[in-house]
Amino acid sequence: MIIEKSLVLIKPDAVERNIVGKIISIYESNGLTILKMKKIAVSKELAEEHYKEHVGKPFFNDLVSYTTRSDVIAIIFEGTNAISKIRTINGSRDPKTASIGTIRNLFAINGRENSVHASDSKSSAEREIKLWFK
Ligand code: CDP
Ligand code: MG
Repeated sequence: MIIEKSLVLIKPDAVERNIVGKIISIYESNGLTILKMKKIAVSKELAEEHYKEHVGKPFFNDLVSYTTRSDVIAIIFEGTNAISKIRTINGSRDPKTASIGTIRNLFAINGRENSVHASDSKSSAEREIKLWFK
């Protein structure tokens, strides 16, 4: 049991559909607390830096276009085992395989427009928090 911070993005497909509140309430009901939150128009440079582990993959350019097409909500959440807890709440990448009741099962459009991002490790949480809240 360790108190952690994690970076969550509510991605363009969810912001466009006005389901930000529904998504945040799921995290809050699971004991996660908002430390910081902002709405941001994402530059190409920021999207590319955020997703740099995927540079060169066939979906990279489409991923950057999607991430920059409209505003994103960036949130730092804090809570017990926040990093793995949030990944579980989000569900697997593709809504076709995401577990019932996860955010991606409930809200994602497809395996790209999948409503949320969350840090996947302690080191990525530290990197992403610095990147989005510098
Ligand atoms: O977001 P998550 O860490 O669960 O998945 P990822 O495999 O690290 O991929 C990052 C993001 O790239 C996904 O959430 C999708 O938005 C996008 N992606 C895509 O558009 N097409 C793929 N074949 C794989 C990922
Ligand atoms: Mg990932």
